[in-house]
Amino acid sequence: MSHYHLKSADAFQKAYQASVDHPEAFWDKIAKNNFIWQKHWYKTFEWDQKNTHIKWFLGGQLNITENLLDRHLIHNADKTAIIFEPNNPDEPHQEISYADLAKSVNKMANVLKDQGVQKGDRVCIYLPMIPELAITVLACARIGAIHSVVFAGFSSSALAARINDCQCALVVTSDGGFRGPKTIDLKSIVDQALENCPVVQRTLVVARTHQKSDMVPGRDLWLKPLFDQASDQCPATTMDAEDPLFILYTSGSTGKPKGMVHTCGGYMVYAAYTFKNVFQYAEHNIYWCSADIGWITGHSYILYGPLANGATTLMFEGVPSYPDFGRFWAIIEKYKVTQFYTAPTAIRALAKESLDFVSPYNLSSLKVLGTVGEPINEEAWQWYFKHIGGGKVPIVDTWWQTETGGVMIAPLPRITPAIPTYATLPLPGIQPVLLDDQGQEITETEASGLLFIKHPWPSIARTIWGDHQRYVQTYFGAQTDKYMTGDGATRDAKGNYRITGRVDDVIIVSGHNLGTAPIEDAINEHELVAESAVIGVPHSIKGNSLFGFIILKGHPDSEENLKSAINQCITQHIGPIAKLDEMVFTPGLPKTRSGKIMRRILRNIAQKNFDALGDTSTLLNPEIVAELIQVMQKKH
Ligand code: WTA
Repeated sequence: MSHYHLKSADAFQKAYQASVDHPEAFWDKIAKNNFIWQKHWYKTFEWDQKNTHIKWFLGGQLNITENLLDRHLIHNADKTAIIFEPNNPDEPHQEISYADLAKSVNKMANVLKDQGVQKGDRVCIYLPMIPELAITVLACARIGAIHSVVFAGFSSSALAARINDCQCALVVTSDGGFRGPKTIDLKSIVDQALENCPVVQRTLVVARTHQKSDMVPGRDLWLKPLFDQASDQCPATTMDAEDPLFILYTSGSTGKPKGMVHTCGGYMVYAAYTFKNVFQYAEHNIYWCSADIGWITGHSYILYGPLANGATTLMFEGVPSYPDFGRFWAIIEKYKVTQFYTAPTAIRALAKESLDFVSPYNLSSLKVLGTVGEPINEEAWQWYFKHIGGGKVPIVDTWWQTETGGVMIAPLPRITPAIPTYATLPLPGIQPVLLDDQGQEITETEASGLLFIKHPWPSIARTIWGDHQRYVQTYFGAQTDKYMTGDGATRDAKGNYRITGRVDDVIIVSGHNLGTAPIEDAINEHELVAESAVIGVPHSIKGNSLFGFIILKGHPDSEENLKSAINQCITQHIGPIAKLDEMVFTPGLPKTRSGKIMRRILRNIAQKNFDALGDTSTLLNPEIVAELIQVMQKKH
């Protein structure tokens, strides 16, 4: 029986059971029957628990682009692979066929090769959501170069840190990007970053906005003339299943971002399998994920998963509020989108606006709605269901992470029941468990605890680039035989999971993972700041907002100016997404006797839950609590 496309509850249950009873046989069959391999593997799975080395499809050889592109050229060459909807609705859109996409990818691959890029080299991609972004990602995969896409909202120092961490020799960027009414000057951000990146030899620049760019002689080249001259034939480089396909940085609870490494074979199998089932993709469907390719959602569910299934995937350059708050719904109507996948923060922001932005549009093409990135609250879920889905389109609340490569826990639309605010059931191959604070597995079905996953699945990240020890410590440090997700969860009597949020110092703001440590480091860069602590406070649209407690070492002329200067430091070191919504200046921070900041107390103080502070007498400095309460009471 083929478990690739699960079409009924019965098929799902059988597949799930098979995947738990015999994980290797389960994935072996799916990988063998649904993908093109140049060489079959000699062993399906290996897990060296002592050193935390996980491998799937050992000895197997492939090139992922043969699965994404070449194989569809036989019967579907003219089918649209990518629809590009520009920021400005008056600019013509593009429909790129599989044949044209394959040609462009080959051309770009040849350009990269001509610039000296070889298999295993790292290429940094810092581009807006334009077709060249997709083409460059796939061109890297074609020649076995490891892409590291950096979201084009990151600042020059964040970009530099990511380029240096994995030593990228080449950067692909653009003169600028369009974002709603704004034009973002990307090239100058890259120029600033590269002042601190001696390793970069070459930048290739896409002309998107046609604004003036300073081209550094000997380093910067416009892409177009090179692309136009390149051959549209390029053989696919043979890759080992375990060779890295890409690095994608995600925030950790301590300083440096973590370069998560995903490999060619396992990632392909799992991204493709989950795309097919979670979205129940069928021929002629038009699928749209509104994420940015700079995040894992865009990697797996704008590019790799859809293209592996020969789907039509829509790429949108703009923002949901431009030219007005009806833009998403206008796009769904325009292309008769069948599956729409977005973030709860976008839903909350749009739900706040008048329904007059929704009602003009015909949304009857929709058959699946998805959410990802953070917990979705009941109200947002109901709004999405009623006003976008017309009360009949199933919602898939998909829980997963950059590290997991693909969706882990989610309903299958019209197959397993959706429950508002629950990600519901694990997909085949995924064995979640809940642990208590002592690290004991909770055996009762109805329970709350820390979410861990037993038994690796094919697309688990294999390591952190350049720091395997940190990988071991972060994900397998607590339990060597279980992956630690860092999330807390509740399980109901039927085994449905509801994700309650991060249990570490990562805060999810508008669906973006932000570590508190790098934000605090950025704040501390200001000359008047001695120390700081950043916490998350529930926010009706963003999910969480950022609140900073800041100790000063001098007197500012104006508190207001200091606040904007501190946010400027954050913008400069990380990006505007990490700016504080609120901050207070405080004489101290509550600390344990070992010097650790008690963030639980700060969270309650920030929300003025002064009665919920609990016992504070064991603090190193209990007197600070009363002072902090005073500071908050003075704040209007
Ligand atoms: C959170 C995004 C609740 C979670 C694919 C996780 C969610 C982190 C959900 C990973 C969901 C993601 N319900 N929480 N459906 N999806 N999260 O790496 O805390 O950007 O650990 O990957 O987002 O974020 P990341």
